[in-house]
Amino acid sequence: MDSFKIEGTRKLSGTIYVSGAKNAILPVMAACLLAPGKSILRNVPNLIDLKTMSHLLRVLGARIEHNGSTMSIDAKDVCFIEAPYELVSKMRASIYVLGPLLARLKEARVSFPGGCAIGTRPVDLHLKALEALGAEITIEHGYIHAKAQQLKGADIYFEKSSVGATINTLMAAVFAKGTTRLLNAAMEPEVDSTIDLLNKMGAKISGQATTTLTIEGVDDLFPVEMTMIPDRIEAGTFLIAGALSTDPVTVKNCLPEHLTSALDKLREAGCELETGEDFITVAGPKIIKPFNLRTLPYPGFPTDLQAQFMVLAAFADGVSFIEDTIFPDRFMHVAELNRLQADIRLERNLATVKGVKAFSGAEVMATDLRASAALVLAGMVADGITTVSRIYHIDRGYDRIEEKLNSIGAKITRENG
Ligand code: UD1
Repeated sequence: MDSFKIEGTRKLSGTIYVSGAKNAILPVMAACLLAPGKSILRNVPNLIDLKTMSHLLRVLGARIEHNGSTMSIDAKDVCFIEAPYELVSKMRASIYVLGPLLARLKEARVSFPGGCAIGTRPVDLHLKALEALGAEITIEHGYIHAKAQQLKGADIYFEKSSVGATINTLMAAVFAKGTTRLLNAAMEPEVDSTIDLLNKMGAKISGQATTTLTIEGVDDLFPVEMTMIPDRIEAGTFLIAGALSTDPVTVKNCLPEHLTSALDKLREAGCELETGEDFITVAGPKIIKPFNLRTLPYPGFPTDLQAQFMVLAAFADGVSFIEDTIFPDRFMHVAELNRLQADIRLERNLATVKGVKAFSGAEVMATDLRASAALVLAGMVADGITTVSRIYHIDRGYDRIEEKLNSIGAKITRENG
């Protein structure tokens, strides 16, 4: 298993580039199943999760090519309905094929996703919404089996804001007869870009970027070309690298409007920021101010940046409080950061982070995607050498993170083992 060896406390400055958004590409790839023919996606990075989704779509009968940053998905011959355990257990986002398969092939069998390192993650909202559209759902032998000759429009209220359930329901509802209304729908930019794709394909979805989405059912969708939005979480991760450095770091190819809540916290911490259409320049203060943070659905602070911002708080001159309301168990990084001599106490879903003057390099273990990004950031400011093992987690969602961070002055070596 590969690991990163990180030489800490090096000066950072310069420009770092953001890739296309993993969490926008995954549902868009699944949505391509709805349009027989070849769709083309641009700005698609090389990530393990996207390889897993490609594998799954091939199992369903699609043909996928990924050259450079362009991916083509030919969904003409999609005819298989089963998403097997081996793939779904590798990546929960495999659940995204449920809606499109049900809509196009009238039936789907998708392995029931289990929990994961960030806690139990149910799919009840997905299933309840598909049932409301008229699907018959049974769960047997670890599989979700959904069937419907003709889905029918309905009013669906989500008890909780859910990115996955909103997108899955949208994809199922595009062919439903009549009108579907989704209330308390998620507003994350990744939902937005899925709607962009579906509307380009010929769907009729209105209410974009609000919590009420209206879908008028159509009979067919057509393949299209689309450029994927930049990854706001990768951008936010690089912004923390910049915030931990007093020299300016420019994060390029990002959309600042997707990062408003994160930028707000950086300002509170004392960072200097400059934003343009597709870049953010950040310079950290000499003394970081403590800040309090609570994760919330978009446009609130993203849970996917909680761990990275904790690294910044761990260096602040005072005490910060960090609460995760989306995934209350998403704190596996706390024990690892404390191995680097951070001073963080955890009570349920609230971390009390007492700032320290320095981290001390040590061996730590990546536990999930965003926690591992936080450990890399921490290693970059720790005295001496930090080794982060199990970095396959990070390769799931960051394209060559070590090369990108090294380009602004970090010294991170990938060691094969
Ligand atoms: C997506 C992102 C993930 C991010 C999360 C929240 C992808 C591939 N993953 O995950 O990186 O951290 O949004 O922004 O895009 N819930 C239920 N029942 C359900 C579905 C969700 O109770 O059926 C709960 C979850 O446990 C969680 C909350 O709703 O507490 C939000 O989860 P959701 O937005 O669905 O996250 P994902 O789509 O799985």
